[in-house]
Amino acid sequence: MLFTPPQKSGTPEKPTPNRNIIATGRGGTGKSTFVALALRYLRTPSLLVDLDPDSSLPGMIGVDLQKEGKRTVCEVLYDVVMRRKQNVSPTITTHDLMQPMLWSDALYEGRGFDLLTLGTKYIEGCYCAPDNLLRTTIQEHARNYAQLVVDSPAGVEHLNRNVVSDVDDLFVLCDPSQKALKHIQRVKRIIEQVGIQYRHFYLVANHQFDSTSELHLKQSGETYLGRIEYDPEVDNYNRQGRSLLDLPDDSPARLSVKNLLARAGYTQH
Ligand SMILES: Nc1ncnc2c1ncn2[C@@H]1O[C@H](COP(=O)(O)OP(=O)(O)OP(=O)(O)O)[C@@H](O)[C@H]1O
Ligand SMILES: [Mg+2]
Repeated sequence: MLFTPPQKSGTPEKPTPNRNIIATGRGGTGKSTFVALALRYLRTPSLLVDLDPDSSLPGMIGVDLQKEGKRTVCEVLYDVVMRRKQNVSPTITTHDLMQPMLWSDALYEGRGFDLLTLGTKYIEGCYCAPDNLLRTTIQEHARNYAQLVVDSPAGVEHLNRNVVSDVDDLFVLCDPSQKALKHIQRVKRIIEQVGIQYRHFYLVANHQFDSTSELHLKQSGETYLGRIEYDPEVDNYNRQGRSLLDLPDDSPARLSVKNLLARAGYTQH
């Protein structure tokens, strides 16, 4: 049984080519904040995929998955494993059993974006099964959207999992430490070894940079897009669990994300 992902309402009849975006970087560099702030300036609709088992992105964009009755990819997988153990639907493959559940139970449908979260895995083993599921279905499903936007967990391990292998824009969020430069080299090496195809590799300085520390990124030999300004309201909103989508238009962090997306060729709305 081949499951066809539902067509998104509002999808243009002749869809313009969609873009695959990944935000990656070391822990706490501002990846999720960047994704949340970028959402405002991307063409709609976007399919957001939160690959971080710690799942902070939903809260940052005002989504309470529990309240919405939505589950994570790992929770769906857990159900399927349990059904398999009880020998429910023995003639259907695990993959085919999971597909419709994934898009109906796990996909949160919002205004201008939909969201899928990987979640925490409560059963033994690695993330291979949920990753495989996402890898095989996500690119196809993403054709219904103007963009696929991936928020990554900290570090580089998720790149090895190769969930999205064809990337248009890879945004590497950097902190002003010596380790950041090593991290950039590591990211490059892994994506080349794992065979992730990418069109642009962009460095973004996070809110902890100043003009002096910015020089390291400017001289790194990679495409440096710019710095995200420090904005105490971002911290306040995150602490209070408020949606970053509600930040005022003149928020310095929001404006810097707008400007660096423009530098990356994103037309503004
Ligand atoms: N422009 C900014 N101004 C002020 N604070 C910021 C800004 N961007 C991010 N922060 C703060 O930095 C912290 C880390 O941000 P965020 O959670 O987005 O990072 P992350 O890279 O997604 O973290 P993790 O690796 O845990 O997923 C948060 O407390 C957030 O409020
Ligand atoms: Mg994060």
